[in-house]
Amino acid sequence: MATELSHEQLSALAREYGTPLYVYHAEKIGEQYKNLLDAFHGADVRFFYAAKALTNINVLRYINSIGCNVDCSSVNEAKLALHAGFDPKNVLYTSNNVSFEEIEEAQRLGIHINIDSISNLRKFGLKFGHSYPVGIRLRPNIMAGGNLKISTGHADSKFGIPLENIAEVLDLIRETNLFIRTLHIHTGSEIKDVEVFARGIEVLFEVAQQFPELEVIDLGGGFKVPYKPGEEGTDIPLLGKKVKEEFEQYEAKYGRKLQAWFEPGKYIVSECGYFITKVNVLKPAVNAVFAGVDTGLNHLIRPMFYGSWHQIENISNSSGALNNYNVVGNICETDTFAENRPLPEIREGDFLVFRNAGAYCFEMSSHYNSRFKPAEVMVEDGTARLIRKRDEFSDLLSGQIY
Ligand code: LLP
Repeated sequence: MATELSHEQLSALAREYGTPLYVYHAEKIGEQYKNLLDAFHGADVRFFYAAKALTNINVLRYINSIGCNVDCSSVNEAKLALHAGFDPKNVLYTSNNVSFEEIEEAQRLGIHINIDSISNLRKFGLKFGHSYPVGIRLRPNIMAGGNLKISTGHADSKFGIPLENIAEVLDLIRETNLFIRTLHIHTGSEIKDVEVFARGIEVLFEVAQQFPELEVIDLGGGFKVPYKPGEEGTDIPLLGKKVKEEFEQYEAKYGRKLQAWFEPGKYIVSECGYFITKVNVLKPAVNAVFAGVDTGLNHLIRPMFYGSWHQIENISNSSGALNNYNVVGNICETDTFAENRPLPEIREGDFLVFRNAGAYCFEMSSHYNSRFKPAEVMVEDGTARLIRKRDEFSDLLSGQIY
């Protein structure tokens, strides 16, 4: 039986907690993590949940409770992870274009660090020498990912140290006695093709021999999850098999064992999330009907920012006759969630639910138009609990000096 929440459960939560409302299903997170463990059984691998996808402290605690590690993109995320109870040795910090002061702060937290510029690597080497093992993020010049905004490993990308600069990195290691434990890449998000990961492994194995103290190959995140019905995600069992084979071959060839790390965000939390909204108004559109909902790009920006497709269901009238709708927001911008989408007849007051609302949805929300951020609820063992209250007026003034 699929691990999902029913329309009845979601409608009841919308009535109880109001809308717009984010709902996360804990068991789905556990199921995704278990899928990874099963697929990589027998491989020497560690998974670090990319916290940037969703940082509610209760979600982080749950992820820690199931034994998954965590990857952070800022020192604040790392502090949240520690606050949630993660052991520093299970926390990874993959920085991008940050100040050296932020890296020093991460070092004081005792967590794993990946550095992505020669400039910060030099400062790190000069200050810490061989005393603190560190990872370097390389730019592998691989084009991958669902759209250009989320492609990060190509030759024009701002991320990582270009492969072409390896000689300079090696000089730095000699000069400052850096302890390079990890080589890291993250080529993009929503990578369906297992071959892209295989290519990444190949690129890192090609340079690995030049790093005598290397223990870890970190391949980042980016596993694709299905967003549309019938769509296929990354073939995780195939990936697990491939990683196991490649790492075994490397070991056989060089007599040296390396551990694989991954940093999945979407794979762990995308499908656990539901975003419930209420239809405020219906209006005629040219070839459809506008369904204006009580939310907008301030709460779920992915469709407008990346052209992302989220499945929408009318949970108040699931068996209604299909009609075409433009589902639009209530923000003073053109915030279209879906165009000409066939949906069961929508009436004003109906609840619509957006699927795949766990990753990069609440997390990318804002107070734009001075609207309140939604509440968040977590369902665990069949019981729902509020894990973030809906904003109130004072939240809009919080931090302002007046
Ligand atoms: N590791 C690093 C270094 C990353 O930069 C990211 C994502 C991940 C891991 C996790 O990637 P994932 O497994 O979630 O694909 N806001 C965009 C996605 C941006 C991803 C940024 N980096 C979206 O909503 O599609």
